[in-house]
Amino acid sequence: MKTDYTHTPVLPEETIDLLNLKAGSSGRQGRTGMRVVDCTLGLGGHSREILKKIGPKGRLLAIEQDEENLIRAKKNLKGFSKRITFVHDNFENLAAIVKKYKFGPVNAILFDLGLSSPHLEKAERGFAFRHEGPLDMRFDKRQGLTAADVVNSYREQELTDILRQYGEEPKARFIAQAIIRERKKRALRTTSDLVKVVETVYRRRSPKFHPATLTFQALRIYVNRELETLKKALEQAINLLAPKGRIAVISYHSLEDRIVKIKFRHYTRSCICPKELPICQCNFQKLLYIVTKKPIIPTGIEVLANPRSRSAKLRAAEKL
Ligand SMILES: C[S@@+](CC[C@H](N)C(=O)[O-])C[C@H]1O[C@@H](n2cnc3c(N)ncnc32)[C@H](O)[C@@H]1O
Repeated sequence: MKTDYTHTPVLPEETIDLLNLKAGSSGRQGRTGMRVVDCTLGLGGHSREILKKIGPKGRLLAIEQDEENLIRAKKNLKGFSKRITFVHDNFENLAAIVKKYKFGPVNAILFDLGLSSPHLEKAERGFAFRHEGPLDMRFDKRQGLTAADVVNSYREQELTDILRQYGEEPKARFIAQAIIRERKKRALRTTSDLVKVVETVYRRRSPKFHPATLTFQALRIYVNRELETLKKALEQAINLLAPKGRIAVISYHSLEDRIVKIKFRHYTRSCICPKELPICQCNFQKLLYIVTKKPIIPTGIEVLANPRSRSAKLRAAEKL
């Protein structure tokens, strides 16, 4: 397996700052140092910075659902391995993972969502419309459903809904119809097969925006259940944080960012139920203070150096 892929971490300094990390003792934990969870280890770029900051007493729980990236990250973080617990799992199981490894109380939690560079560069993973590869798009290869399964077996309405909901693709219906027409002739097996179908719908190409961008985004989000897992994991993360603990989330498209914004806001509201009610009915519970009133975005210099950072938005909150 080629292992020399690199991934430049996005907003590294801003993220580490917002997580409010410190070396040495932290509150009640005394001698044990901070406990941090990186829910999206990737190639370990942010984890490395976290480990440096929390010093020799700090511990990191690093979760990654893509086994290939986990192997790369272990190699990249060799010098720190005694202080890291690596977990090959989906962050939707965050609470169970923290419990299993007796890792709580947690002082900081990071989510750096979406794709890493190897996903886009390795044609065999099927994430990139610019490389010919199988229509796969699974982060975790243990999972059954691939993008090929979706495009070759779902009904027109289901495909339309996926493209609309997860890609906000304005030509969702036409693309779904074009997919169905094409697959009657032969199954769509590769990224290029799908790109060609989308191009029949978008005859006039924008020089800045590849016509298959939103279709690929939608299928990837659907195949990996990205929005559902994010909602579940945020909920768990907020509950797992120790008082004054911080959560930081870097998102790369508006659907993710909206979920983060809404979830954070929800937990800044106090219960509004009348005192007479024996149990809360409104579901509001003031648990968070939002640290980033507006999301932090990369500077022009960062975008120039790392174009993949261009759509990033970083939000952070503190547990009360
Ligand atoms: C943007 S990359 C993270 C890069 C990392 N911060 C770094 O600096 O190297 C996102 C990573 O999260 C992983 N990932 C995405 N969704 C996940 C999930 N639900 N559970 C666990 N890992 C996930 C992806 O496989 C990918 O490796």
